[in-house]
Amino acid sequence: MANTVKMTVNGKAVSGDVEARTLLVQFLRENLGLTGTHVGCDTSQCGACVVHVDGQSVKSCTLLAVQANGSKVTTIEGLAPAGGDLHPMQAAFREHHGLQCGFCTPGMVMSAVDLGKRNKAPSEQEVREWLEGNICRCTGYHNIVKAVMAGCRAMAAGPAKAAAAKGGDDD
Ligand code: FES
Ligand code: FES
Repeated sequence: MANTVKMTVNGKAVSGDVEARTLLVQFLRENLGLTGTHVGCDTSQCGACVVHVDGQSVKSCTLLAVQANGSKVTTIEGLAPAGGDLHPMQAAFREHHGLQCGFCTPGMVMSAVDLGKRNKAPSEQEVREWLEGNICRCTGYHNIVKAVMAGCRAMAAGPAKAAAAKGGDDD
């Protein structure tokens, strides 16, 4: 049976008919074409599907679309303004080589932005613990952790100081 869901995704009001079993990640990818949110497992372990729902990072494969009805959802596509600068966390991933194939990256970045909103200067240990639910098969995590630490500092510094905060501890 179809259910109509309505939500705000990346600042736009959207709606669609979904089955009761449709996952939020399926709604985002298949109904809205927002394929930056990835599916890397069927066990809710990889974190490639992380988006923000009402400001909190959530694995979008663990939520039904109907459960997100009425919510504000942000995906990787909505993190930076269209045609504008990268979000400071995206810029930090680029600067610190925090990705290789990039498959895990949208989920990593969305998780990391949530951390940056809670902790202006997380330690390496805090970053590693926060990213426990995000799996990367390529990088060995070292540069991801550096990127997240720098990205959180850049978020705290604000756009004007982001450029200064991103330098200094790269290889
Ligand atoms: S797709 Fe792997 S945790 Fe959601
Ligand atoms: S960069 Fe390839 S899975 Fe993380």
